[in-house]
Amino acid sequence: DSADDLLRVAELVRSVPDYPQPGVLFRDITPVLADGGAFATVTTELAAHAGEAEIVIGVEARGFLLGAAVALVAGVGTVPVRKAGKLPAVAASRTYELEYGTATLQLPAGVVEPGARVYVVDDVLATGGTAAASCALLADAGAEIVGFGTLMELTALNGRSKLGDLRVDALLSA
Ligand code: PRP
Repeated sequence: DSADDLLRVAELVRSVPDYPQPGVLFRDITPVLADGGAFATVTTELAAHAGEAEIVIGVEARGFLLGAAVALVAGVGTVPVRKAGKLPAVAASRTYELEYGTATLQLPAGVVEPGARVYVVDDVLATGGTAAASCALLADAGAEIVGFGTLMELTALNGRSKLGDLRVDALLSA
């Protein structure tokens, strides 16, 4: 059943100590994507949460892989939220704080109409900075965000507190 399937997914997430810096336990979902059954499980589960969304948003970079697959299963299109400097035409930008410095995320121009219902997907919800900036720039573009879906939420970092009352669908918690 679905609980067994998710248990198998959890076993495939690779925890890498001290990456990208000492003291951080990095959660690598690469082995999940590399396994056909596990990839199907996470894609199907997140697509079920996407509900009435008209577009699935994938957040750079691992969110692209998940988001595109979720969109295909949900029967809708996908749009990437990209790191700054990658897009030829930009609809909205948001800069947010990292532990050291800042980062900027951007939405491509001309593909998300005002009022469009979107579901935002990323592999991991950690501090929530990436998810919050992604949702903020979609709101700037006039999108209606129906939820945020992720393979794994790192609950100790309380990233969902940055998302206000947005629904967060996390398949796994650590
Ligand atoms: C990781 C992950 C999320 C983000 C979560 O991306 O894929 O996008 O961090 O962290 P946060 O909740 O603290 O913002 P990363 O910055 O490693 O980028 P990449 O996927 O492009 O490698």
